[in-house]
Amino acid sequence: MPKFTPKSFLLAWCAAAPLLLTACSGDRAPTAATPTATVAALPDTEWTTYGLDAAETRYSPLAQITASNVGDLGLAWSFDTGEVRGHEATPLIVDGVMYATRPWSSVFALDARSGKLLWNYDPQVDKSMGWKACCDVVNRGVAYYDNKVFVGALDGRLIALDAKTGQVVWETLTVDQGEPYTITGAPRIADGKVLIGNGGAELGTRGYLSAYDAQTGAQAWRFWVVPGNPAQGFENPDVERAAATWFGKWWEVGGGGTPWDSIVYDPDLRLVYVGTGNGSPWSHELRSEGKGDNLYLSSIVALKVDDGRLAWYYQVNPADNWDYTVVQPLMLANLSINGVLRKVIMQAPKNGFFYVLDRETGRLLSADPYSKVTWASGIDLESGRPIETPQARYGAAVAMVTPGPGGAHSWHPMSFNPNTGLVYLPTTQGSSFAYSVEQNFVYKPGTWNTGVTFGTLQGLPRLNAEQYRPGAGPERDAPGALVAWDPIARQPRWVVDYPFAINGGTLSTAGNLVFQGGADGILRAFTADSGDLVWMADLGVGIMAPPVTYALDGTQYLAVLVGWGGASGLIGKSAAGTFKGEGRLWTFKLGGDKNIVPVEGQPMHELSEISFDDNPELLARGADIYGKRCMVCHGANAVSGGSLADLRYALPATYDILDNIVRQGAYSGLGMPNLGKWVSEDDLKALKNWLLSRRAAEMAAVQQAAQRQ
Ligand code: HEC
Repeated sequence: MPKFTPKSFLLAWCAAAPLLLTACSGDRAPTAATPTATVAALPDTEWTTYGLDAAETRYSPLAQITASNVGDLGLAWSFDTGEVRGHEATPLIVDGVMYATRPWSSVFALDARSGKLLWNYDPQVDKSMGWKACCDVVNRGVAYYDNKVFVGALDGRLIALDAKTGQVVWETLTVDQGEPYTITGAPRIADGKVLIGNGGAELGTRGYLSAYDAQTGAQAWRFWVVPGNPAQGFENPDVERAAATWFGKWWEVGGGGTPWDSIVYDPDLRLVYVGTGNGSPWSHELRSEGKGDNLYLSSIVALKVDDGRLAWYYQVNPADNWDYTVVQPLMLANLSINGVLRKVIMQAPKNGFFYVLDRETGRLLSADPYSKVTWASGIDLESGRPIETPQARYGAAVAMVTPGPGGAHSWHPMSFNPNTGLVYLPTTQGSSFAYSVEQNFVYKPGTWNTGVTFGTLQGLPRLNAEQYRPGAGPERDAPGALVAWDPIARQPRWVVDYPFAINGGTLSTAGNLVFQGGADGILRAFTADSGDLVWMADLGVGIMAPPVTYALDGTQYLAVLVGWGGASGLIGKSAAGTFKGEGRLWTFKLGGDKNIVPVEGQPMHELSEISFDDNPELLARGADIYGKRCMVCHGANAVSGGSLADLRYALPATYDILDNIVRQGAYSGLGMPNLGKWVSEDDLKALKNWLLSRRAAEMAAVQQAAQRQ
């Protein structure tokens, strides 16, 4: 039986009193002394590739900062990025220089010892294309190779910069900019090539991974995740083989499969491993007439580094129907399983199961739920296929399925500590979504094409309770949890609950530590073996990015990029309060400045009364348009996820110019799309009226809360 250590109480209490650091330090009281004796013994240790090492374990052998002295961490330096939206990058540290990215794909290089800005590069992405980014205009970082820094820009360019100066060495366009492609992921290096994928499956694209020569930028190969129109011929036999698993006219809606995050290279096997994306549209019925597995959607694929041709594939979700991407971080390890030392690849994709595969053959070794799932009751290890529950294949009737499109885990990196044998996994527990196939679906370029009903579900038929079957996995009360997963025992060894659904990536170190930032803006350290909270610092703004660590001149540093956004910062309110604020890179060291002043969140405008029409039909129409056209950025029910404007709190003058903002592109330079094509004048009237009703409801709630105090 999995043992769940009840840390949630301590954590909830600590979160309420972030300044009482010593009282929140768990069993082990921090000791004040910095171990000066180790200074000479600590060689320079940098962070030169996305996941720290080729296996992407994010485990650092540095042990100057330990579970017993972590309480002495203080600020070394910080750097304000000047951008507000989601900050997801893993900074790299090479030759004493730190390279990181911010929203809209701009790159900055800092002196890693002092935080001094060395250079800045802005690819000048046209902000009116920001609507193509389903999940915020984020960027997860750069790759470094041979004195060059590589960045994928949101608009689909891959750019090589001189690491010393930030000057462009070469630049190439990796996508058709007439299609809704984006790049948010960090490029990776394999055998002298730069690898980059793309995103856009929600809007209707055909996903692929490209490899370019790192010196010249010339394209080396391309792996197509899904087939195109058969009438135009297939690029290669891998694509032809995939086409046999598709039906209907999927190419008209793109097919999807965009590999927007994880790429790992094993130089011994000369294989590139890539996680592929969800189907476009999400509904299998609309995408492929409800038939066929739809290769290579939602799969782990192994490609030969020389030509990009398929070595093996494992399809995690055959016939994806739920936006279950398999792009989540992939990690390589050598594990002793039943007495046999195996080269494995591990992943915790959105669907809630933790997978371990033999990375030489692609054979599934284990798959076990790390969170509650209701779409399947388990994974059959013989066939490798999931055992789906009936509700998973929803139709016109609304079915609640767990996890929802946000997944039980997304791009937030996990780490693996070989001393404890544990994978530290940031998870969302028990999120669900009401899926139903959109009736009369037609593909509309320039907008979300999920084929799943968003907006009001009123009047739609629903599955009744008897039609549901049990799924698998633990039922937890907390919306989020840090799970310390034992990939050999196939169960968690300890779990820390969080009061918010989505939290940052993790880092583990030889100092018996795990570091993770939270949606609440608090950076925490836990003991790696037992999950005891041993340190925390309130940084003010929600954290998504994973921390990194490095050593220069005998000092170990801990660094993390802070800034709230991403899918959760847009669509869902993940924590109480608002966490919008300017991004900042924080760097800590033992004996640093204890006076840590959090970034101040941006204050909300005052609410004032503006009248509205309470006609139920008009309100329903407004709610529906909001759900279809605005929700993905401004939050469900007009409650902002914290990254973009909460429309209930807009200034009265803003409602007066709503037509300019929504239908005429007045704010397109800020990333607010021109929706004139989709929202008519009448639609806007209904929308505005509904927004004002949401504002009035919020005002009433705020007044009630004030009276109670
Ligand atoms: C692709 C994402 C996206 C979508 C979809 C979107 N917006 Fe925006 N919106 C933005 C961004 C980005 C801004 C500017 C930054 C900010 O205000 O936080 C913005 C700003 C605004 C503002 C100005 C807010 C203020 O207080 O100044 C209004 C009003 C607004 N949007 C209304 C809407 C409405 C109504 C819809 C649906 C019809 C919509 N938006 C759909 C991204 C989006």
